[in-house]
Amino acid sequence: MAKILVTGGAGYIGSHIVNLLRSTEHEVVVYDDLSTGRRESVTFGRLVVGELEDIEKLEGLIQEERFDACFHFAGSIIVPESVENPLKYYNNNTQNTLDLINLCVENNINKFIFSSTAAVYGEPAGGVCTEETSTNPINPYGRTKLMTEWMLQDVAKAHKDFEYIALRYFNVAGASVDGRVGQCSPLSTHLIKLACEAALGKREELLIFGDDYETRDGTCIRDYIHTDDLARAHLDALDYLLGGGKSEVMNCGYGNGFTVKEVIDVVKRVSGVNFRVKVAPRRDGDPPVLMSKTEKISKKLRWKPKYNDLSVIVKTALDWEREL
Ligand SMILES: NC(=O)c1ccc[n+]([C@@H]2O[C@H](COP(=O)([O-])OP(=O)(O)OC[C@H]3O[C@@H](n4cnc5c(N)ncnc54)[C@H](O)[C@@H]3O)[C@@H](O)[C@H]2O)c1
Repeated sequence: MAKILVTGGAGYIGSHIVNLLRSTEHEVVVYDDLSTGRRESVTFGRLVVGELEDIEKLEGLIQEERFDACFHFAGSIIVPESVENPLKYYNNNTQNTLDLINLCVENNINKFIFSSTAAVYGEPAGGVCTEETSTNPINPYGRTKLMTEWMLQDVAKAHKDFEYIALRYFNVAGASVDGRVGQCSPLSTHLIKLACEAALGKREELLIFGDDYETRDGTCIRDYIHTDDLARAHLDALDYLLGGGKSEVMNCGYGNGFTVKEVIDVVKRVSGVNFRVKVAPRRDGDPPVLMSKTEKISKKLRWKPKYNDLSVIVKTALDWEREL
């Protein structure tokens, strides 16, 4: 049994990990300022409402609870916003994480699991990434995440007891199969969520950004991973670290690619609604293909995804969106 601090546990992804932690013996405290998360999304453990920047409060909590491990989800995640307001991102993603890592090192929290992103790869040649693919983020959001990976790497090297896993998520989608948690953010830019909104009449049309890429139907190809499988990867990472595993960076996707048009077709088929779709110009910084190689996580963590099926991802997202 471990005592776990979950920053950002009231948000989209953190809430799925907390929901899955219900089935374990671990004790959970969520620390979240509810800036984009929701109180109702914390289905297990204790919620402490607080900001990462409130170091005194966070330190008080850490000293009181004496955690064994930290899952760090709290952060800012909207790429275009990071271009317009980079300092918000360097503050919330880099500075606040630096302060958190510092508190962890000072207070003997030596297992750290970090939400990184495929955005650290930027626009990789060929579009299929192993963990060795060179990193070259093309926006402040991706840079803040890569900077955090570097901090963790250096800290783990200097502090022998400190071990971390950085999971580089590809396109996270869907909602928990038990229907308890899902994506709530009104500012979400995620394709599957927006397509579900269109299918349910919550938006008039769905935009495809560019249909002249060099792909099988001209639209971008992405690697979509179900939230419950992503959550399982975090628990596997925790078990690995608690069992004495060493620090690693790992891709977290299925290694399958779907075009934007293929995703839209699945949402139309599963919902039974032929919603309106319009082609808009390409956006800056969208690589034609972004997919993961997943050998490392399968081998090191023995991670076995259960929901590697786009129809299942879409069905859970639709069911969730209907109830919102
Ligand atoms: N959603 C994705 O597809 C995706 C992909 C790659 C990486 N990630 C990473 O996963 C993590 C979680 O993403 P998400 O989609 O769940 O986002 P989210 O916005 O739903 O969740 C973030 C949570 O952190 C909290 N938070 C933010 N700043 C805080 C602060 N300063 N102090 C305390 N709480 C704070 C928010 O209230 C929210 O509950 C992020 O670090 C993000 O960069 C997400």
